[in-house]
Amino acid sequence: MGFTEVILQWYAGNGRDLPWRGTRDPYRIWLSEVILQQTRIAQGRDYWLRFVDRWPTVHDLARASEDEVLKLWQGLGYYSRARNLHRAAQQVDALGGFPTTLQGLRSLKGVGDYTAAAIASMAFGIDVAVVDGNVYRVLARHYGIDTPINTAQGKHLFGELAQSLLPQGQAAAFNQAMMDFGAMQCTPRSPRCSDCPLAETCDALHTHRVDVLPVKLKVTKVRQRRLQYVYIRCQGYTAIHRRSAGDIWQGLYEPLLVEDGPLPPLAGRWTLLRQGVKHVLTHRVLLADFWLLEVDERPSLPPDYQWVAEADLDRYAVPRLVEKLLVCLSEFSKSSEQSEFN
Ligand code: ADE
Repeated sequence: MGFTEVILQWYAGNGRDLPWRGTRDPYRIWLSEVILQQTRIAQGRDYWLRFVDRWPTVHDLARASEDEVLKLWQGLGYYSRARNLHRAAQQVDALGGFPTTLQGLRSLKGVGDYTAAAIASMAFGIDVAVVDGNVYRVLARHYGIDTPINTAQGKHLFGELAQSLLPQGQAAAFNQAMMDFGAMQCTPRSPRCSDCPLAETCDALHTHRVDVLPVKLKVTKVRQRRLQYVYIRCQGYTAIHRRSAGDIWQGLYEPLLVEDGPLPPLAGRWTLLRQGVKHVLTHRVLLADFWLLEVDERPSLPPDYQWVAEADLDRYAVPRLVEKLLVCLSEFSKSSEQSEFN
């Protein structure tokens, strides 16, 4: 048996039972792929179930508001995925249904080569190979290829290799087999080589390079940003604003934010809730201070701020860093309630 037959046979016996695997509905498949792009399967599955329960068709999703989509997405991070998801649903709705070609799928917002290939193969049975991190790893190890995977040359080489191994008419099974094999057997760390059905033909295993393949060039230099959040509390209300385009967390809500400057000279009771909270994003490390400012009268704020009842705050989608602030705040509020009684 060659590589492809072994992979397919392994998948028949070991593939995961995932809720979107029983369907050829492009909406459900697309949704699963977008959710799983930066998210583990166990967490992604819960979100997927909530999304299809709330919006059973792409037309339902198209008619939702962006705020509702961001709210249901909250906690998954990388919020541009959710905004693109919503816009792509509107594109599909306007077209009257999903495009059925690779090129057509690529024209949807947020759909790149990977997602287009996944939908094309799984929903429409088109013979096109997907190449995700799992596929790079399995191929780099089995074929002993040390071309860096994050270069144009590497992408081309691994893409061609995956395509050449794809069995005609079985793209859906082969693609998912490769992903599951990479996620379950040929894992990044501590792969299960001792019971691997491909051990005999695995180049990396024989040349002792399993732990150095695949090769990835280091590129991103991580920038730091210092943020100071000021949660203003006034008679059970607080001020938030919606983040605008051109920066992280577009469309999400947050309290008064001061970046790199001095705190505003607002009168009231200032409490430093937490200092130097570290929050890691893909290309940045954020260092945040959380302040509580208690006031009796509403200070004037920039026009995009709105006052909302604190009890209603959970209706707004907020970045995870702001969730951390809210946790600090509720811990602080609880401990000061207690001290009033002591
Ligand atoms: N990761 C992303 N999409 C996947 C799929 N369809 N099967 C397994 N793992 C995945």
